[in-house]
Amino acid sequence: MTTTTPRPRTFPRFPAGFRFGAATAAYQIEGAHAEDGRGPSIWDTYCRTPGKVAEGATGDVACDHYHRWPEDIGLLRDLGVDSYRFSIAWPRVRPLGDGPLNPAGLDFYERLVDALLEAGVSPSATLYHWDLPQALEDRGGWRVRETAERFAEYAGTVAERLGDRVERWMTLNEPYCSAFLGYGLGRHAPGVREGRGALAAAHHLLVGHGLAVRALRAAGAREIGITLNPDLLLPATDSPADIAAVRRARTVHNDVWLDPLFAGRYPLHERETWETLAEDPPYRLDGDLELIGAPLDFVGINYYRPVTVRDAPRNEPDPAARTAVDIGAAESWRTDVRHTTMGWPVVPGALTDLLTGLSRDYPGLPPIFITENGSSEADEVSADGAVHDEERVAYLHDHLHTLADTIAAGVDVRGYFVWSLLDNFEWAFGYDRRFGVVRVDYDTLERTPKDSYHWYRKLIAEHRAAHGSAR
Ligand code: FCB
Repeated sequence: MTTTTPRPRTFPRFPAGFRFGAATAAYQIEGAHAEDGRGPSIWDTYCRTPGKVAEGATGDVACDHYHRWPEDIGLLRDLGVDSYRFSIAWPRVRPLGDGPLNPAGLDFYERLVDALLEAGVSPSATLYHWDLPQALEDRGGWRVRETAERFAEYAGTVAERLGDRVERWMTLNEPYCSAFLGYGLGRHAPGVREGRGALAAAHHLLVGHGLAVRALRAAGAREIGITLNPDLLLPATDSPADIAAVRRARTVHNDVWLDPLFAGRYPLHERETWETLAEDPPYRLDGDLELIGAPLDFVGINYYRPVTVRDAPRNEPDPAARTAVDIGAAESWRTDVRHTTMGWPVVPGALTDLLTGLSRDYPGLPPIFITENGSSEADEVSADGAVHDEERVAYLHDHLHTLADTIAAGVDVRGYFVWSLLDNFEWAFGYDRRFGVVRVDYDTLERTPKDSYHWYRKLIAEHRAAHGSAR
């Protein structure tokens, strides 16, 4: 039998000062769902609703990071990352969303932050990675403005305690998913299909962001931003109908967020997208645009894959079509490339097109951090005990090369966080989609760094050596 030795992969070159990191989110890794005073979140409820999450999985235990965080910080230290992006669970800090603080919740994050700093890893904290306290959902959730106000209070409280040590704050993670998957399609918590109801949720998420930015600044937070997942949307054919469908899909995926945040306006094509949208939707108040558009220090972009869009009848319930609201567009994945186990097409060049397009269309865009990028693969533990995740290495290699080229071409990207440090609870897909550079055995909770971990570690070390910098 002949064996082929894989070609050695090259390391891309990044500018001095470029930051490397790894990312996770609270509900996906922490577990300890009912410990030390944590209140229930909408994801606890959603996971307990039959038929919502694959195999009835929950985040009750997840990676047990709540107890194993010292080991996980060791993995980050050995990986050599500059920064760790984690999220803070609102229901640990304020179990009912408002009202009494839970000191044990804040203490947990304080210990984590201090231990990260001791390990030479700078903390980057997301304040909302989808785990809304259930008590607030019971009072209307993101459909109502009150939730935005409560979010800002919680953000301010956390920043008063940790603002001197957390380097970078992200208010929200992918509000597109919270609004349109949560309240439009029902594929994420709280799992309702309210069509246009999702538009009010989207607006209140943005208001919550704006109010939280104020609260963070007042508490002396350093760098403040938001993480979005704008999509590179490509027409299925070059027919005028498909091209028009792309514009409508872009409204939902991208413009709803980017236009008010970075262009001082509500989405340019909204009336073409929602033909019967009221001229002045009641949830928009005077002053909201100024609030939402307050200057940010950076924008986080999550990128995984491009999306193909075709024209489709409006108002037609099509469970296979991924588009959230009645915009007359259906989405799919291109088929002519490799797919990850999420079914997502691997197209590194789309990252360049996305970033170049964003900087062209939004001259007011602050510096970019890639706050998530990675792939889920069918990893296996080999006889030697290692995980030879060659496909993930290839994915990271190709995307990081593309990113380095994009920066060289003039797009201002300051850092990159791999998704994810650990295999974890992948929302409605449960535990069978593995994104980690570290494998988690869900029976023993043992952690095993994969080949991709070692590859990424070398890249970071080479980068430091090339620029003569120590961590
Ligand atoms: C993003 C989420 C993150 C993870 C990855 C795969 O949409 O922000 O939590 O699930 O996708």
